[in-house]
Amino acid sequence: MLSESMAALGKRRSTIRELFEYGNRRAAEVGRENVFDFSIGNPNVPAPDAVRQALLELVDEDPVRLHGYTSAQGDAAARAALADSLNRRFGTRYTADCLYLTAGAAAALSAVFKALSCPGDEFVLFAPYFPEYRCFIESGAGAKCVVVPPRIEDFQIDFDALEARLTVHTKAVVINSPNNPSGAVYSEGTLRALAAMLEQKSKTFGHPIYLVSDEPYREIVYDGLTVPFVPHFYQDTIVCYSYSKSLSLPGERIGYILVPSEATDSADLYAAVCGAGRVLGYVCAPSLFQQVAAKCAGQTADLSVYAENRRLLYDGLTAMGYTCVKSDGAFYLFPRTLEADDTAFSERAKKYDLLVVPGSDFGAPGHMRISYCVQTDTIRRALPLFERLAAEYR
Ligand SMILES: Cc1ncc(COP(=O)(O)O)c(C=O)c1O
Repeated sequence: MLSESMAALGKRRSTIRELFEYGNRRAAEVGRENVFDFSIGNPNVPAPDAVRQALLELVDEDPVRLHGYTSAQGDAAARAALADSLNRRFGTRYTADCLYLTAGAAAALSAVFKALSCPGDEFVLFAPYFPEYRCFIESGAGAKCVVVPPRIEDFQIDFDALEARLTVHTKAVVINSPNNPSGAVYSEGTLRALAAMLEQKSKTFGHPIYLVSDEPYREIVYDGLTVPFVPHFYQDTIVCYSYSKSLSLPGERIGYILVPSEATDSADLYAAVCGAGRVLGYVCAPSLFQQVAAKCAGQTADLSVYAENRRLLYDGLTAMGYTCVKSDGAFYLFPRTLEADDTAFSERAKKYDLLVVPGSDFGAPGHMRISYCVQTDTIRRALPLFERLAAEYR
């Protein structure tokens, strides 16, 4: 006998992974250049030269230390370097003890949800949301997801709908700005309003409602926007960050959890994160890339290509009649599908070797996610195919 729920999760791969694997099979048949795989958020820009330089410097260091275990929360000097970088950028006063290094944002989120969860707890998600939240919260932490339906005109927060879902069982609200899949970014005003509501509800319910800020796309924003630093607005914020997108290192698995010292019970909260990491068997984040992240803190890959891809795709699709909110950040567009059944639409798109993910996977049916972290030429060559697809619906 084994865990049926785990077997089910293992068998039922996410649609994104299914499409990605389908794309690989199709590429073997018709050639990689003829498959327009917009399914997965695998950055196509190379890691910056700073990463290469850091690796070259590190390779000459003591290999026993370099490849050895670090303390569970991460090497103290690496954490101090990352805390310093945050302090320089955001005017904060964090120390190494506020940071817990992880194997990317996925591990950060899993540890945070587990650290926070008590029986009966609820986590509020805004649709459209990163599908793995459900897996981490329900199957990993044994808690419940409560979903605020999407506000499809702009994918910003519907505060009335949020308020209706905050209860005495709410342990945390999860935000992801810039958002995967909509590209929406929350302004300072939005964060202020959110903080005010959470402060008031925390008082009413007699316990803090934490705000989990999932920020792997923090540096990928357009038209001169900046992403407000969430702990400045709400004391009980926990940040989950990743270098997967900013430094184009998704396979190296490196990120962190920030538990600000101002958060309620921050020492116990940090201890609970360490406990959750232990239960999940994390041991420590990859040692070599802890050092690389410390050396490259605050830098990014050349993210400019995403702006050009966004322009081409948004302008091209809207000119063809697709309805789409323009993304302010991340590298995804989330247009309406041309029929209500987004899975049927995604299937039909495959006829043209266009791979797009149905919005239902993100809790927002009637949409498709297009990842534009691809070569610009791929977008240019895909646009006529999107046009032929649209023509089928006219
Ligand atoms: C919103 C969001 N959160 C978390 C993750 C996980 O990122 P990581 O590769 O750092 O585990 C992703 C990855 O695409 C994401 O889009």
